[in-house]
Amino acid sequence: MRCLSNTAFGLESALKKELSDLNLTPEGAHDGQVFFEADFEQVMRANLYLRTAEHVYIVLAEKALTTFDELFETVKAIPFDSWFGADAQIIVTAKAKKSTLMSERSLQSLTKKAVIESFKAHTHHTHFPETGPKIHLRASIHNDVFRLDLDTSGDALHRRGYRLEAGDAPLKETLAAGLCLIARYQGHRPLIDPFCGSGTILIEAAMIARNIPPGLSRSFAFESFLPFDSKTYHAVKKAAYQAIDLDKAVVIEGRDMDPKVLMKARANAERAGVDEDIAFNEVRFEMSKIENIPSHLITNPPYDERLMSRREIDALYQAIGRTFKRLTDVDRYLLSSVSGTEQKLNLKPSQTRVLFNGPIKARYYQFFHES
Ligand SMILES: C[S@@+](CC[C@H](N)C(=O)[O-])C[C@H]1O[C@@H](n2cnc3c(N)ncnc32)[C@H](O)[C@@H]1O
Repeated sequence: MRCLSNTAFGLESALKKELSDLNLTPEGAHDGQVFFEADFEQVMRANLYLRTAEHVYIVLAEKALTTFDELFETVKAIPFDSWFGADAQIIVTAKAKKSTLMSERSLQSLTKKAVIESFKAHTHHTHFPETGPKIHLRASIHNDVFRLDLDTSGDALHRRGYRLEAGDAPLKETLAAGLCLIARYQGHRPLIDPFCGSGTILIEAAMIARNIPPGLSRSFAFESFLPFDSKTYHAVKKAAYQAIDLDKAVVIEGRDMDPKVLMKARANAERAGVDEDIAFNEVRFEMSKIENIPSHLITNPPYDERLMSRREIDALYQAIGRTFKRLTDVDRYLLSSVSGTEQKLNLKPSQTRVLFNGPIKARYYQFFHES
């Protein structure tokens, strides 16, 4: 089956690497989407294991077309009855871009009508009560190429289930995991986040270190699909539990000056099952010292000008720059959307990468150890 997974802009290469690690072969990657071939079991595993993906879709149709008649017939020809029952609550979203058919409303309603017509043509059903599981279909047309995707994830995959409590500006779990993967953090060296907030980077890091799949404690849309086989899924999850690394000595520290946000971080870590791996300490950055030892520092310092004045941000980033200059043995990674970060830090990064933190364009500054 042709499948695709989407992620935040800038994380495509991290997602491709994750797919390769699952023995899947990613094809192209663009606009936050990566295509790959997979069978149903691999789709289950992709949902369970991918850390940077937001959804995993099965591509049901892909065709160049310019009329609604063609579109209707294309959708009607898909045997939906082999995917879900006639009682499903079918939810269709539609997006049109640079195409002859630009009415998203017509795209949405015709697709839904054609799904029902497909059921009528392929089965004896005449009644569609919509009392069953929710099925999300994504219809899109771009440059006159129509595509229909079946969402196998349900809730977006960044919803791991552990974060009920967030600080002021929490990172999405998928982005936090992406920061750790780009930094090649594997849990063999100590890690510190001196501005940890609700702890997202550190919790994702601990899950990477322990080889805990991010989707282990949540459910997925594919569980209600007709080809779903609970025995196979049980075996996939059992193998995942058995592969959790309980022996590694994981050293992770989170610091923040706000005691309330640290309480949230501790509660989140506990729900994620990694609270014993992370020490959270109430420390003001300017008053603290970070050891210059072979280790990782991954952080997302405050950037919001509504919470801090420009002068306070400048002073803090100068302090971070001075600390970073001293930490020559540490691989230092900093995500920020503050303009002129490099000048404020007064330090030249080894590499920079543009990433999107939701709608906010940010840069991931990477300072590699010097020896
Ligand atoms: C952008 S948030 C970090 C969000 C975090 N990555 C998360 O996912 O929840 C920045 C954090 O820095 C903390 N902070 C601000 N100034 C600080 C300082 N001078 N020293 C230590 N922590 C500080 C804030 O309390 C806030 O929790």
